[in-house]
Amino acid sequence: MSIISRLCGIQWITGEHKFQETFEGYHPKTESQAQALEAVRGWADHPEGSLYFWGPAGVGKTQLARAACRQLSHDAKSWNSKGFYVDWIEFLAWARRRVGDEGYELERQLSYLKGFDPDAWDPWEEGPKVLVWDDFGQGRVTDFAVDMVTEVVHARYDRGLPTLFTSNCDVERIAQLYDDRIASRLVGMTGRGTQILKVEGPDARTG
Ligand SMILES: Nc1ncnc2c1ncn2[C@@H]1O[C@H](COP(=O)(O)OP(=O)(O)OP(=O)(O)O)[C@@H](O)[C@H]1O
Ligand SMILES: [Mg+2]
Repeated sequence: MSIISRLCGIQWITGEHKFQETFEGYHPKTESQAQALEAVRGWADHPEGSLYFWGPAGVGKTQLARAACRQLSHDAKSWNSKGFYVDWIEFLAWARRRVGDEGYELERQLSYLKGFDPDAWDPWEEGPKVLVWDDFGQGRVTDFAVDMVTEVVHARYDRGLPTLFTSNCDVERIAQLYDDRIASRLVGMTGRGTQILKVEGPDARTG
């Protein structure tokens, strides 16, 4: 399976060298950060169900998400923990640049995010299951972005694929920005297994 990772913001979860961030390097300063650390760590041990954690800038959401990838990559032999990390801002920027060509490569990359294997002979062949979706709901909310988010969330919801979301927005805000159907699926996905968590704390970037 080939993937043009760096260009489109998608990385295979394999090989811990790609993910420098660790759970040990995350130092919770608030109760909700401690809860997030525990929940994300637990999810990375057994990626079943989905976890949506959201909060303001600089509380360490990306660090936790990438530390989860690092942990998953230790166990990358197990099919259940194979998957992808996507930086949604980078992916959107990449996808926007693809508009205008015939869309073949965009279709392929979306297949990965939806948990299918675009290289398989059968287009419905299951691909790696896990997705760590960083910065969900970020970026300009264009029709194009809404359509892609809808497509991926819908596909993953339908098949109950384990997904770790980080976001700056709570689910109500997602409903306002995108639509109720996405928000409803997000809640449905998390309800099956894990949870929605709000992370609060000081912005580590500004001290
Ligand atoms: N609790 C923490 N312990 C150690 N380092 C932290 C912690 N929280 C944040 N950091 C560090 O602060 C920087 C910003 O964190 P990070 O990028 O994970 O924030 P974020 O919550 O994803 O923010 P944004 O909403 O802007 O994406 C990173 O270098 C990260 O490693
Ligand atoms: Mg982040």
